[in-house]
Amino acid sequence: PDRAYVIDEMISAKAIAARIEALSREIKAEFSDTDKLVVVGLLRGSFVFIADLVRELDLPIEVDFLEASSYGNAMESSREVRILKDLRGAIEGRDVLVVEDIVDTGYTLSHVINLLKSRKPRKLKSIALLDKPSRREVDFRADWIGFEIPDEFVVGYGIDFAQRNRNLPCIGKVRFID
Ligand code: PRP
Ligand code: MN
Ligand code: MG
Repeated sequence: PDRAYVIDEMISAKAIAARIEALSREIKAEFSDTDKLVVVGLLRGSFVFIADLVRELDLPIEVDFLEASSYGNAMESSREVRILKDLRGAIEGRDVLVVEDIVDTGYTLSHVINLLKSRKPRKLKSIALLDKPSRREVDFRADWIGFEIPDEFVVGYGIDFAQRNRNLPCIGKVRFID
């Protein structure tokens, strides 16, 4: 980014951890009968969330990744979701949980869910840590949501601003200072 900014904490690491614990209980109940749950992380933003989430899920799981990108380094969605890396494994007849960091316009996660649905999984659910409903352009809601947030530019816990700040342990909001 060519503008100077600071990051103000919006959701603490502790609050995120507590929310993940609660969500995990619901997910375990939903998939209690599974022989194996395929947990799919959407790269790159979900890498921190999926790491914390799967460690709370004492279920038989498998981890896979799919890379979808719509923003690149831009601040606005291109509305065109590109699959840059597909899943390693087949999901037909399987239980699948798609893990995403944030739903904004909704293009990314709805596109991925439609794509995976066409592969005929037994059960397909999605979870997003953050949801910005005020920005939605397609009619879509994840099955589980960590936090609903206002229309702020957020970073951290996997989420980037032009590829930076993904390693911030909390969710912060960007405040430009120039
Ligand atoms: C970001 C974010 C979500 C998506 C949400 O990904 O991680 O995947 O945008 O926006 P949407 O609901 O408007 O589609 P990005 O394309 O920046 O790729 P990244 O995960 O590699 O940062
Ligand atoms: Mn993403
Ligand atoms: Mg991004």
